[in-house]
Amino acid sequence: MKAPFITIEGVEGAGKSTQAARVAAHLEARGVPRLALREPGGTELGEKLRDLILNDTHIAMEAGTETLLLMASRRELIDRAIRPALEAGRVVLCDRFIDSTLAYQGYGRGLGADWIRRLFDLSCHGFYPDLTLLLDLPVEEGRERLRRPLNDRFEREEHAFHERVREGFLSIAGTEPERVQAVPAHGSGDEVFERVLGCLRRRFGTIF
Ligand code: TMP
Repeated sequence: MKAPFITIEGVEGAGKSTQAARVAAHLEARGVPRLALREPGGTELGEKLRDLILNDTHIAMEAGTETLLLMASRRELIDRAIRPALEAGRVVLCDRFIDSTLAYQGYGRGLGADWIRRLFDLSCHGFYPDLTLLLDLPVEEGRERLRRPLNDRFEREEHAFHERVREGFLSIAGTEPERVQAVPAHGSGDEVFERVLGCLRRRFGTIF
């Protein structure tokens, strides 16, 4: 079986990063070769772009510019990290990917999903994941979980922006039910991990 490319998505505070780390640790314990990445970032240039995209001390940028920078970071990640790892037989796990751009820039910023998908096809080979786990949680509950000062350009956006992002994620899951699986993100970390593992086992069997 070809090594799968799996992404984890969700609103702020949904617990993606925690669950991504748990899945990576689970694979490590099973001796499965894997590569865990995050977006924006994951390459040397990508981490520099991350700083430009997230840091609100920089000058303001247009939503289209923001999207192009995100796609530039993604192109680097695909060509330099994701594809080589998959070709070497490693499972690739990425904390956020194209669905974040569809939800945050397409729905949140209002650029529209069609433009984002066309841009992704042109700039990133339309390289969609094999499976995307959408950790779904009401915006308010995610905010409460963060329990730290909200400090990047997205965390500081108004409530309505984050509601559009959540609606965007759910809409993508409705449009692409085969690729995008919504996982309820309420409850303890252990409970959510059981749900995540259940999805991964149903799709990929004994790897997990
Ligand atoms: P995180 O690593 O804490 O999830 O932060 C990344 C932030 O960047 C998060 O607020 C969502 C945002 N983002 C986008 O707006 N579009 C994207 O395509 C990606 C990958 C992230």
